[in-house]
Amino acid sequence: MSEYMPIVYLHDAFMPIDQAHVPVLDRGFIFGDGVYEVIPVYSRRPFRLQEHLQRLQHSLDGIRLQNPHADQEWADLVTQLIARNDGDDQSVYMQITRGVARRDHAFPPGIKPTVFMMSNPMTVPPAELRDTGVSAITAPDNRWLRCDIKATSLLSNVLLRQLAVDAGAVEVILLRDQFLTEGAASNIFVVQNGMLLAPPKNHLMLPGITYDVVIELAVANNILCEVRPIAEHEVRTAQELWQTSSLREVMPITLLDGNPVGDGKPGPLFQKMYALYQDYKQAVRAGKG
Ligand code: PDD
Repeated sequence: MSEYMPIVYLHDAFMPIDQAHVPVLDRGFIFGDGVYEVIPVYSRRPFRLQEHLQRLQHSLDGIRLQNPHADQEWADLVTQLIARNDGDDQSVYMQITRGVARRDHAFPPGIKPTVFMMSNPMTVPPAELRDTGVSAITAPDNRWLRCDIKATSLLSNVLLRQLAVDAGAVEVILLRDQFLTEGAASNIFVVQNGMLLAPPKNHLMLPGITYDVVIELAVANNILCEVRPIAEHEVRTAQELWQTSSLREVMPITLLDGNPVGDGKPGPLFQKMYALYQDYKQAVRAGKG
């Protein structure tokens, strides 16, 4: 059986991934000078596309790069990409870099941004992981001060995430000045005294699309929820910890730095939120999201 060859979009055309090439002077390659999005697709329907496109605009504004497409053009490209790839559930990746130019840090005038999009089969974490929960470690957040930009320059995130893998954990929970920011590739929620806590969106974390869904579901279903700065000691004494992201959805963290979180099992609030999230996904599949 031959390996599945996704169809990607590059330089204004669709092609098999093995035919997609970028010049070595692309500023994405040289400087990590670009931004990206990851959009889950359920039953061939992109999840919260408008919100992802809004965040993309925010990231482009943050790096002073003009959006190469109007939202409707993006929506058409995403639709075509999904249609050209296998599988009802996919994850669409899109990135825009500043383009190709002789190496110089300052913006080169008049170059065309490089747009790249690919879609891969969506693989949600196995159910067993949700039954047991996953382990995380903590580390100082040593990233820059514009973590609200979804930039392709992810070196700190890469190094931090590898720390977790080296420790046999799946995520690293980042702390800055004794306060929670987020995970290396996810947002983090805390349950304290039956109350769901989330750190406020600011320049120190990525405004997660899944984060918004979880807060909306909490508010709509009478789960007490507060968005406020969360101190390190509240993370360490949490009854429950969750990570959220487009690819991991909502995942309980049951071990932190080798110590059990609460009683070391996914907690009751997680079970409730997970069920709500699954119902919401079903509605999206049916076109009612
Ligand atoms: N990452 N924070 C960081 C640093 C992230 O990289 C991500 C997602 C999130 C969660 O955002 P969302 O709910 O919109 O996926 C938070 C993606 C999935 C990635 O880089 O692959």
